[in-house]
Amino acid sequence: MELKNKVVLITGSSIGIGRYTAYEFAKEGSKVIITYYKDKEEALKTYNTCLELGMLEGLVLYLNLKDNGSIVKCVNEVLDRFGYIDILINNAGVLAWKPLREQSFEEIEAQIRVNLEGLIKMTKVALPHIREMIINIGSGAGKTGFPELTTYCATKFGVRGFTQSLAQEETDIKVYTVNPGMTATRMTGYKGVSPNIVAKVILNTAKGIYRKPSGSDIDVWEYY
Ligand SMILES: NC(=O)c1ccc[n+]([C@@H]2O[C@H](COP(=O)([O-])OP(=O)(O)OC[C@H]3O[C@@H](n4cnc5c(N)ncnc54)[C@H](OP(=O)(O)O)[C@@H]3O)[C@@H](O)[C@H]2O)c1
Repeated sequence: MELKNKVVLITGSSIGIGRYTAYEFAKEGSKVIITYYKDKEEALKTYNTCLELGMLEGLVLYLNLKDNGSIVKCVNEVLDRFGYIDILINNAGVLAWKPLREQSFEEIEAQIRVNLEGLIKMTKVALPHIREMIINIGSGAGKTGFPELTTYCATKFGVRGFTQSLAQEETDIKVYTVNPGMTATRMTGYKGVSPNIVAKVILNTAKGIYRKPSGSDIDVWEYY
């Protein structure tokens, strides 16, 4: 797919994988919508770098996936400006890396609400306006269980089930789960592969380079 002028909404793109993904789409001349939750300053830095990389037009928006009103407002703000969304990249996520015995109710709720419930609601609100593709960011922890990642794994397994089902329901668009392995971002204490590598796989997914049927997993570690 030619990405020039495509409207690409990337949740959680103030930092991390989302930020580097914004850079890749900016280089292609896409119109990138960057969302932040707590880190507006970092989101503005991402936006300015996107402009330097060739993006002509974009937006920076607040989004809290734990808040229904915020989800609706964010999508409406995109529609007010652009009228549609070509590609939605559901990237925002949180992680509490500790045994279940030590996870608070709040930590359990945050992971489920952001990684799964928020992703589903965001998709539901945006869906009538999406023209090409949805890319859900899953994880290797959505394919295999890991100790100390119980709740997180549950959310990421859920994301894959959501993708597979939605792909069968919405046959006019493509829906994928891109599964990163351990990636060097705030989430992992900056251990793992460069987020740049993950961003390139997300970009290639959007371009259709992997030629996988809608609903498929795209495992980033296969492309290192
Ligand atoms: N890093 C890894 O090893 C790895 C591996 C596999 C999968 N993943 C997945 O990749 C995605 C990106 O992770 P990352 O490593 O780039 O994490 P990150 O650097 O911690 O970035 C997380 C992003 O999500 C946003 N966010 C947090 N809470 C939010 C909320 N309530 N509503 C909306 N946005 C919220 C953050 O916004 P603010 O900073 O502005 O608050 C930030 O932009 C996640 O889905 C993650 O599960 C990561």
